[in-house]
Amino acid sequence: MALIYLDYNASTPIDSAVAAVMRPLIDTAYGNPSSGHWASAPAKAALEQARGQVAALLGCADDEIVFTSGGSEANNLALKGLVYARSGRPSHIITSEIEHPAILAPCQFLERLGATVTYVPVDASGLVDPDAIRKAITKDTCLISIMHANNEVGTIEPIADIARIARQHGIPLHTDAAQSVGKISTKVDELGADLLSIAGHKLYAPKGIGALYIRHGIALEPLIHGAVHENGRRAGTESALLAAALGKACEIAQAWIGMSELQRLRNLFWERLRAAFGNRVVLNCHLEKRLPNTLNISFVGGNGAEILAGMPTIAASTGSACHSGQITLSPVLQAMRVTPEVGLGAIRFSLGRGTTQDEIEAAVSELRRVIL
Ligand SMILES: Cc1ncc(COP(=O)(O)O)c(C=O)c1O
Repeated sequence: MALIYLDYNASTPIDSAVAAVMRPLIDTAYGNPSSGHWASAPAKAALEQARGQVAALLGCADDEIVFTSGGSEANNLALKGLVYARSGRPSHIITSEIEHPAILAPCQFLERLGATVTYVPVDASGLVDPDAIRKAITKDTCLISIMHANNEVGTIEPIADIARIARQHGIPLHTDAAQSVGKISTKVDELGADLLSIAGHKLYAPKGIGALYIRHGIALEPLIHGAVHENGRRAGTESALLAAALGKACEIAQAWIGMSELQRLRNLFWERLRAAFGNRVVLNCHLEKRLPNTLNISFVGGNGAEILAGMPTIAASTGSACHSGQITLSPVLQAMRVTPEVGLGAIRFSLGRGTTQDEIEAAVSELRRVIL
């Protein structure tokens, strides 16, 4: 039976047009982008073109983009970099209970260094209440970090509303857009974000590249000290090869017109499941405010990991892919107050550019075979 990939929120294949941009650069862009001679020119040109492509997708200036190794580093740079830049002044961060570990773990680390963190709860659909953020603000609040879209359930947070509150109080707003970039608009001015993280491998670029948008005027201490690469914000010779891949991926994402078809397939998937399983299958997400490609469902009373193990040709995820293999209720579903009876039966299917209707029909047949 053909293999079916329905785990695009975990990672995406490299787009063939992205690979095509990378191939010649392997031979031509070997110079150090910071050198002043002929060999650096192709690398420097590729790097700066890429910065412009990322900036175009986010609607910001080129010099507001810092390349990182991925989403985790971008998040760490935003959180730690901002707190470190405060040189020991009391620091309070507001974040949510459903953030990715790449936000929660740096927050816990900063707490060990003396920072305080408020983890605001979410409602049953995974939504943060902007009013809860307003109430959590203290005189020491130096950062609000709320994810744009949740990786497990796909719920899209009210970032623009939260940004208005942040701005009223003069507090910078960071958003982890690793899951939303390329799926919904991530223009920084529409969102009101001062810092925004993206991850290449969620966007049909390779692993090992990401970026942090840093609005002009926001001071961050680098995490990696060294030479003045990336305008002194992240030391280490840049990979023009990987940056070019991310740049091309951003350019493609901006022009891609297939999202409504993807959403149609996602909705069809849900309709087919409801027809097959009735009330034994439930949705774990907000009905409207959710990513167009994500379907997080629960087979009530079932076990998501066992169901997936019974259909090995289908790649999907129980909870977040970062903790797959762990058969406990995911922290995101716990925060949404999903009962264990429902939450343990959760499976996240995430569709992508390669998904076809035949694959959706085949996945439904497999689920029927394993469950009914
Ligand atoms: C919401 C979110 N943030 C951050 C990350 C981490 O990104 P990376 O794997 O590029 O470090 C992920 C990846 O799963 C994610 O889904």
